This record gives sequence, structure tokens and C-alpha cells, in this order.
Amino acid sequence: MVNYKDLGLVNTREMFKRAVAGGYAIPAFNFNTMEQMQAIVMAAVETKSPVIMQVSKGARNYANASILRYMAEGAVAYAKELGCAHPEIVLHLDHGDSFELCKDCIDMGFSSVMIDGSHLPYEENVALAKKVVDYAHQFDVTVEAELGVLAGVEDEVSAAESHYTKPEEVIDFATRTGCDSLAISIGTSHGAHKFTPEQCTLVNGVLVPPPLAFDILAEIEKKLPGFPIVLHGSSSVPMDEVNTINQFGGHLEAAIGIPEEQLRKAAKSAVCKINIDSDSRLAMTAAIRKHLAEHPGDFDPRQYLKPARENMKKMYIHKIVNVLGSDGKLAQ
Ligand code: G3H
Ligand code: 13P
Ligand code: ZN
Repeated sequence: MVNYKDLGLVNTREMFKRAVAGGYAIPAFNFNTMEQMQAIVMAAVETKSPVIMQVSKGARNYANASILRYMAEGAVAYAKELGCAHPEIVLHLDHGDSFELCKDCIDMGFSSVMIDGSHLPYEENVALAKKVVDYAHQFDVTVEAELGVLAGVEDEVSAAESHYTKPEEVIDFATRTGCDSLAISIGTSHGAHKFTPEQCTLVNGVLVPPPLAFDILAEIEKKLPGFPIVLHGSSSVPMDEVNTINQFGGHLEAAIGIPEEQLRKAAKSAVCKINIDSDSRLAMTAAIRKHLAEHPGDFDPRQYLKPARENMKKMYIHKIVNVLGSDGKLAQ
């Protein structure tokens, strides 16, 4: 049993309070590799931003749970080496799907966990989230739970709307579970194909997706004033990265994300955690494809992972400064 405080990590409580009051959002970036972790830390240090480094079940399977935990501990040391005396780094479990997985992460030093019971019947979601909260709070670990189901690209817009978070449920859910933050569904979805071209409108040659359901967000805020809200599926799928991938041998068709101005607007509300994973994957893949196409003789991974790391760092800094507004928001 390791407590996250001994690893120099922090939970989300204070940073969310400041973010909600200050009208900005904390970046939650997924990591699976050392290069992603380094790029996240470099970006957070350069911008003086708090940051959530999140690990999915898939990341644990890919990289090994212990290795990722030690990497997060290393991230704190690395941030200090880069000149940040008091880094605010959260190690968060993304989409935990069972009490056992959440407990395992808490016991190995995570400072925050998500229990995702959003696909379960309401009462089962409440019971599971409460069980995780009761365990986590003994160790001052914060818990994110989810109400409403994120749409997949195959959904019709009407079907997606039927999965939106129901504002009339949020008070009961937050009160009975005791969760510290709530992930909601207002039109975002996971991956690089969030909308079909048919769901979008063509404006000046650009496909513009339907706007997020800000009316639902406003209703939720009215029911739970100041309560920390989380947006998953918030990659914007930058066209320049998609074009680079396609130019250098990739084949990504109809990749469409959430426009950044929509996220900027959300960050100014009670949305205080914005999850971004796919944009990192795109930035990494674009840089690697370009490098290998232009340097066909290279075979040392450092030759192509270095520009990949640089490109991810650039993207993370852009999100922090130009989209989420968490730059300069360290407590000290
Ligand atoms: O929300 C899902 C995250 O992007 C993590 O994806 O389960 O493929 O690691 P993953
Ligand atoms: P994206 O696929 O839009 O990056 O969403 C990531 C996410 O929600 C991680 O939980
Ligand atoms: Zn997610």
C-alpha cells in the first residue's frame, strides 16, 4: 500500500475548486509511453499548469501497471528537475470499470480514480460509485463518476441525444455517491471519428459538427452550483495532423473532432477537467510518419520518437494556453 502523497502527487480537489472559480479547465492527458509522459510534464512545467496524467485499463495492459505508476512518480521528479518547485500532478485512473481495479490503483499510489458505471442501470451506477468513493476517501483519493453515455460515431444524432446526461438525476447521483466530480454526456465522444460527415454542416468548405448541448450543461450547473464537471472525448482532431498522416502513407478518412472554440466555451463553465487522448495519438503518429518518410534510412527509435515527443509537447502547450486556459494556474 502506497499513498500518493508520498510520491509527491496531488488529488484533484483543490485544483478543481480553483478551476471552477477561475473559469478554466485542467488538462487530463492520457499516457501509455515514456515520450507521452515526458511531453506532458515538459508542457505543464513550461506553462506553469496543474496537470492530470491519466492511465486507462488499456494503458495498464500495454505498459504494465507498476511501470506507469513509477513513471508518474518519475514525472514529479522530472518536473522538479525542469525547474518547477511545486508541481501539481495528479495520477488518475481513466474509465475504471470495477471496484477492484479502482482499489488496485488507489493501493498503488493513484491520487484520483474514475469509476465508469455510465452503461449500468442508474441504481447500479450509484451503488458502484458509492462503493469506490467510500474506499477512496479513506485515503483522500478523489473520485470521478459518470452519468450519461457518450455517443459513438455510428449513432444517429437523435440516438446520441437520448444518451445525454439527464439534469434531473444529477443532484440525487452526486449526493448519494459522494463523488468529487461528474463526467457528463453533452455531445462529445471518444476517438478521432466523433461525427459522420452527414452529421456536420459544410461552412466555407469545412465540415462543422453540431454544437455541444450547452443548454444541458447550464441546467446541470444550475442544479449543482460549483460542482466540478468533466468532459470526456474532447480531442479536436486537428486537420493539419490528419493531413500529415495521410500525406505520408496513412489512411484516416473523415476524422472529425470537437471544435476548439466549443471547448474554450466549456472551460469557462463548471467544466474543470477536459480529457484529451486522440490528439496526442495523432500528433505522435503524424510526426513519426513524416520523419520515417523523409529519413528512410533511420532505424534508431530515438530518431523518430524525438520529433514525435516535440510534436506532442507543442500540442499539449497549445491546449493548455489557447483552449483550456490553465497556464499560470499553479497554486505556488
Ligand atoms: O477514453 C478512452 C481513452 O482514450 C483511453 O483509450 O482505452 O484505448 O487506452 P484506451
Ligand atoms: P478523445 O478520444 O477525444 O481524446 O477522448 C479521450 C478521453 O475521453 C479519455 O478518457
Ligand atoms: Zn473518456
